[in-house]
Amino acid sequence: MYQLLVRNAQIARTDGSILEGDVACESGRIEKIESQITGSALEEIDAAGRLLLPGVIDPQVHFREPGGTEKEDLGSGSRAAVSGGVTSFLEMPNCRPATIDQEQLDWKIARASKTSAANFGFFIGATADNLEALNSASPACGIKIFMGASTGDLLVDDQHQLDRIFSDGERLIAVHAEDETRIRARTQSLLQGEVHPDYAIHSTIRDPQTALIATERALALSEKYGRRLHILHMSTAEEVHRLRGRKPSQVTCEVIPNHLFLDTRDYQSLGSRVQMNPPIRDPENTPELWAGLHDGTIDIIATDHAPHLLEDKAKPYPQSPSGMPGVETSLPLMLSAMKAGQCSLEQVQKWMCWGPAKTYGIPNKGMIEIGYDADLTLVDMDSERTLRDEDVFTRAGWSPYAGRSLTGWPAFTVVGGRVVFDNGVIREGVLGQPLVFGSR
Ligand code: DOR
Repeated sequence: MYQLLVRNAQIARTDGSILEGDVACESGRIEKIESQITGSALEEIDAAGRLLLPGVIDPQVHFREPGGTEKEDLGSGSRAAVSGGVTSFLEMPNCRPATIDQEQLDWKIARASKTSAANFGFFIGATADNLEALNSASPACGIKIFMGASTGDLLVDDQHQLDRIFSDGERLIAVHAEDETRIRARTQSLLQGEVHPDYAIHSTIRDPQTALIATERALALSEKYGRRLHILHMSTAEEVHRLRGRKPSQVTCEVIPNHLFLDTRDYQSLGSRVQMNPPIRDPENTPELWAGLHDGTIDIIATDHAPHLLEDKAKPYPQSPSGMPGVETSLPLMLSAMKAGQCSLEQVQKWMCWGPAKTYGIPNKGMIEIGYDADLTLVDMDSERTLRDEDVFTRAGWSPYAGRSLTGWPAFTVVGGRVVFDNGVIREGVLGQPLVFGSR
């Protein structure tokens, strides 16, 4: 008797081919993949006509717990995740209090163990004086440095402090690469302390140069010390050009759907909903980011799921907060792009499943292979659904993609061999596990 049998699925193989057949799960692992499996299971899913994918790993989310739970918490964020086919997430440290020591890390792990529907891992946030914790706090997927300020008060942009962090230790360093000095100077000169009527000014203040300067700086530090570096949410053509064919082997980078599917033209209809850091860019950047994914300059996709309440978003610029929800829409967006011919099934798995596992050294995840963890999502590629704010699982209660018609919505999501999302309904009591991090 198996734990779970998924029958008659279009099973996505790691190489992008499809096998029509059955997948049996036992003790949280994939036990068998065959065209027809005999035997029975505690639960069987008839997957006829649907595509079975490895669960997505979202390596950059903000779930706001502790300190911002009116917007999201580990429970609501993880439910949004599994509703969108995301079975594991890596969460950022800019909550209140910030995750900058073992005590806060332990608190989050204990909390997630009780409330998270998906598997979880956490970054440890860099400050001016927590070097010891940065290297010792465990388990952590990596160190997060805000080189430019964003939501919260984490910031390290002093060269001496950056040198100390990059030179001491071996852990992956993930950077929010925007140059704080330039942000401040341009905020001063373009706003002069006033509010501004057009949220599009945000993309002018934090211009492409703002990102490029910080990305160059992080690259120089990584090269100087041979330090493992991950560049978060790369957003500009300039950064892709800088890295194309010249990316050091210890460097990886990511892009988020917001920079692939939104651009500065969207301020007109969506206003502060699309305000984020780094900002959405002029449309000519988008094809370069796609090209960066295709040629391997960009390794993986994250969402930077950053829920804020619409009542806060309604404030005038610059009081309106930066960030938008996205954990539950990344897979349908990418599968819709795949259906439109913009990428392949192999690439979706590389960018969203086994690629993030490789980047962060997470063993045994991101592929439908025997012995791998049974984290799966079963999606419907034949029907389309128009997203509405009312339909989202994030506590923030809205999506920048409301009104878009997308395909590839999950019908079932499985975490550790147990169904956690079943046709629009979260099954209570199914919980994820803490992720393990090894080396790349
Ligand atoms: O727009 C953003 N919002 N970018 C970030 O880096 C942080 C995030 C948040 O936490 O709101």
